[in-house]
Amino acid sequence: MDLQGRTAIVTGASRGIGRSIAELFAAEGAQVALVARSAETLEEVSAVIRAAGGSALTIPVDVTSPEAADDIVTATLDAYGGIDILVNNAGGNTFMSPIASLRASGWAKAIALNLDASVRLIQAALPSLIASGHGSIVNVSSVSALRAAPMIGAYGAAKAALVSATQTLAVELGTQPVRANALVPGWIATDLTGFLREDEGIEHTVLDRVPMARWGRPEEIAQAALFLASDRSSFMTGQSLVVDGGLSANP
Ligand SMILES: NC(=O)c1ccc[n+]([C@@H]2O[C@H](COP(=O)([O-])OP(=O)(O)OC[C@H]3O[C@@H](n4cnc5c(N)ncnc54)[C@H](OP(=O)(O)O)[C@@H]3O)[C@@H](O)[C@H]2O)c1
Repeated sequence: MDLQGRTAIVTGASRGIGRSIAELFAAEGAQVALVARSAETLEEVSAVIRAAGGSALTIPVDVTSPEAADDIVTATLDAYGGIDILVNNAGGNTFMSPIASLRASGWAKAIALNLDASVRLIQAALPSLIASGHGSIVNVSSVSALRAAPMIGAYGAAKAALVSATQTLAVELGTQPVRANALVPGWIATDLTGFLREDEGIEHTVLDRVPMARWGRPEEIAQAALFLASDRSSFMTGQSLVVDGGLSANP
């Protein structure tokens, strides 16, 4: 097992990509701190992990709240005594608008969830990640970060900034024993993208651009997260791992 004895914080662990990451990490031997707003769904994930013989802690919190980062780190340290892995996965986009008419509040909301919350959690967890001697930070970005993201411009900008912050962090950390990488999914079948599957025409337009012509599965992103979080990627830092069925290879 690749993560035996390691402790991982996974935000957005109640469903979708984060849930798959948490379940895979637990199966690989990690003790997992599960973060999301819904206590009930976190308990469901925790129960599944414990039933499979793993160890999980639930931390129901809104990652955009000012005290969230300290609360998450304190709860994890209280339960497990250290932090080896941080997966900043909580994120998403709940509205669509061209940048020209985007309200300041909408811009701020997207940045708060998809950028600020991750940076604050990195800052709070960093001393423990360094102390572990083999820390790994995985920041979940998006292909929206790589090029234009019409109608979801604030989300794309936040995810692009997260890639930039990941690169800078890796350089600033230098020889300290923490690696930081971005994980860049393409279109993945989760609740977040459910509305795109409700209309066949829209779904067709989405998948038309994907060379593999299908949705990615959350488990496929979890496998890439496992690679970045574990010592299997021990000489990799400041990079972006794109998992998108070939979408970003398009001209
Ligand atoms: N699905 C895709 O196609 C795709 C593509 C590229 C990148 N991504 C990125 O991958 C990540 C996961 O996406 P997903 O598709 O798995 O989304 P999802 O199914 O909507 O799940 C989002 C998770 O984040 C949690 N969350 C949302 N807002 C939160 C907050 N303020 N505080 C704490 N937890 C919060 C949700 O739980 P609660 O609602 O209970 O809080 C849930 O566990 C996101 O960062 C997303 O931007 C997704």
